[in-house]
Amino acid sequence: MRSFAIAASIAALALGLAGPASAQSPIIIKFSHVVATDTPKGKGAEKFKELAEKYTAGKVKVEVYPNSTLYKDKEELEALQLGSVQMLAPSNSKFGPLGIREFEVFDLPYILPDIKTLRKVTEGPLGTKLLKLLDAKGITGLAYWDNGFKQMSANKKLITPADYQGVKFRIQSSRVIQAQFKALGSLPQVMAFSEVYQALQTGVVDGQENTWSNIYTQKMHEVQKYITETNHGYIGYVVIVNKKFWDDLPADIRDQLTKAMKEATEFGNTQSQKENDDALAEIKKSGKSEIIKLTAEQNEVMRKAMEPVYKDAASRIGQPLIDEFLKEAKSATN
Ligand code: LMR
Repeated sequence: MRSFAIAASIAALALGLAGPASAQSPIIIKFSHVVATDTPKGKGAEKFKELAEKYTAGKVKVEVYPNSTLYKDKEELEALQLGSVQMLAPSNSKFGPLGIREFEVFDLPYILPDIKTLRKVTEGPLGTKLLKLLDAKGITGLAYWDNGFKQMSANKKLITPADYQGVKFRIQSSRVIQAQFKALGSLPQVMAFSEVYQALQTGVVDGQENTWSNIYTQKMHEVQKYITETNHGYIGYVVIVNKKFWDDLPADIRDQLTKAMKEATEFGNTQSQKENDDALAEIKKSGKSEIIKLTAEQNEVMRKAMEPVYKDAASRIGQPLIDEFLKEAKSATN
């Protein structure tokens, strides 16, 4: 009888069910991501950790795992759904494999003239509606985090659409991005972020598109002779949490974490531009990659060449969604 009681209490301890002991052990949030710490997302995650631990007075411990140390792009989403990690911030371009295509609207080329416009959309009704789509997948969307605008890189000069013909580009898992490169006659290839540097170095792919901060912190500029400043698309993130984990939290803790997330978001989104500007300056300083600036006319030719992507995207994500996005974006400029 006694040994049964001991065995039961050992089992309870192992399961974390023992009363007083579990009251003291902190709730762990594993926050996994794929970029370096010294990036907009990396810094946002660190800020959230700092504030979450402060506001919950240590009742919550946030463990941040940067640079795909825990999971790569696709696996991290599966891990979140299984509850192996609690929090992630994948880019808008990575929700397709989950069965949610709508975030790919952010990938449409030249859809966002600036961050102010983006903010209007993410903070408006469409932003909220998109986050709600995650519920059905056992995921709660908490916030939108910025990175910035994308540039094109390769070992050849990319100036006109013809320069893209036959070039193998690494892409994120978005079909809208796939359509973008197909419109240019390139050969897009989906690949995890953690594999890009090596793929560029060994010639598995010839080029890629990314923000200055991602290019710099992954050292892509060391294996790409040219980077063309196109600002043709945007990379931003949806901060997500396992829904069951989030819903089961004590209400006061959830409130404190919500406050920490709100402040980390404000902090991160005011820093992101600077992170990208600084990365650009470092790349220039390194002299490893030549930076090509397009004239307004050259950029307009690129925009025109990518226009068919809108039609292609309509069949995937729906014209009404694109229209709604454009309408909210337009209201930002008025
Ligand atoms: C990429 O895969 O290129 C980016 O989404 C990585 C990131 O998270 O910024």
